[in-house]
Amino acid sequence: MNQDKSDTAICDLLDAELRGRIRGYLPRYPTSRAVVLPALHLVHERLGYVPPQAVVEIAELLELSPAQVQDTLSFYGFFKQDQPLGRYRVWVCRSMACAAREGEELLEYLCQKLDLQPGETTADGRVSLEFAECLGACDHAPAILVNDTLHKQMTKEKIDELLSSWE
Ligand code: FES
Repeated sequence: MNQDKSDTAICDLLDAELRGRIRGYLPRYPTSRAVVLPALHLVHERLGYVPPQAVVEIAELLELSPAQVQDTLSFYGFFKQDQPLGRYRVWVCRSMACAAREGEELLEYLCQKLDLQPGETTADGRVSLEFAECLGACDHAPAILVNDTLHKQMTKEKIDELLSSWE
């Protein structure tokens, strides 16, 4: 597995520790192709996104083609590739139950407050705003997800509280 070469290249995005963690998955999965998804999650968590260079490095590490890694990345809307995410990734549900309970108004409100469009990140790197499909909290609509925390029955007032609590 290209260990010597890939661990010593000067301009690598993936450091030795991250490469070691990705390699650690190999015995746990039936094929190196199956390691692509957990590897993407590790890199995304570390860098805040998975730029094209990281795709190349993951491919090299797993002895796959960059296209194979890119295919997996592109399949999921979760991974960012163009720029790092903000510290707070905000997903606003736009599916039916939330839309019927003013979820769209909340999204507009967030767009105005943050001066952002969905898919963008604030210039200070604090917040990324995204659409989400059903977050599985329809009984508590409208719902938003901030990083790993679900916020239920949201209102503009609750959004103000959230925003002011973030560093
Ligand atoms: S529709 Fe928004 S959580 Fe299900």
